[in-house]
Amino acid sequence: MPQIIDGKKISQDIKDELKLKVETLKKQGKPPTLAVIQVGQDPASTVYVGNKKKACEYIGINSLAFELSEETTQDELIKLVNELNDRADVNGILVQLPLPKHLDESIIINTIDPKKDVDGFHPISVGNLSIGQPGFVSCTPAGIIELLKRSNIEIDGKECVVVGRSNIVGKPMALLLLRENGTVTICHSKTKDLKEVTRRADILVVAIGKPNFITKEYVKDGAVIIDVGIHRNQVNKLCGDVDYLDVFDTVSAITPVPGGVGPMTIAMLMNNCVNAVDCF
Ligand code: GUN
Repeated sequence: MPQIIDGKKISQDIKDELKLKVETLKKQGKPPTLAVIQVGQDPASTVYVGNKKKACEYIGINSLAFELSEETTQDELIKLVNELNDRADVNGILVQLPLPKHLDESIIINTIDPKKDVDGFHPISVGNLSIGQPGFVSCTPAGIIELLKRSNIEIDGKECVVVGRSNIVGKPMALLLLRENGTVTICHSKTKDLKEVTRRADILVVAIGKPNFITKEYVKDGAVIIDVGIHRNQVNKLCGDVDYLDVFDTVSAITPVPGGVGPMTIAMLMNNCVNAVDCF
């Protein structure tokens, strides 16, 4: 039976550790504060933003909610971000994505002060990660490294294969695994023989956005599988990018969906907010 990597428990441990750190920061007169901006009312975004607020409350981080109308202009949003950049009482700024189509996400992200970029999406944060300098790291891949470390899974010297090359998950994931001395390969939709590459992996991270795509033919015996996907299947049950039951007997460790990678993203966002107080 493989090790089931318990993201729910590990994220709870991280939140409890952060709670203690926040108590100390508050005693030092440095209460962490996160500003969360949501433009419009995308239902999924409303759920994510609500979960972020709840996590802040649990840990003791102040959260400021900016719920803007769908019609907000680019200039208005830039003005708000700049005001938050200038506020000494705000440590972290998060603009919930996706933004409505008339707004340019890249311009908005570039407006956030890199010292307050708790999502780790600013090009300066990404650049720092790529050259091994301190800086904010995108929360989902940072959470995956924590999952591996806290489950005593060694990365050093391992064959690591990342399936998916998004700016938020795949690319930073590959850089983080490299930083931990993994031998890293990135696969994507144009990869010629995906199975041949994924079957080399000691650690396989899957972020392709296709339900139950990875079956046991893609997996080496004893591999560690990290599943970033989350979908509803035909019977409305949550599932990942990996066919969990199909690969179960092949792997040495695996993240479930739900309860694997998902809860780690918010825990690492909270971690970034706490780190933002005595910024890198
Ligand atoms: N939308 C979906 N995930 C995220 C995230 O991690 N950060 C932001 N800002 N928006 C998102």
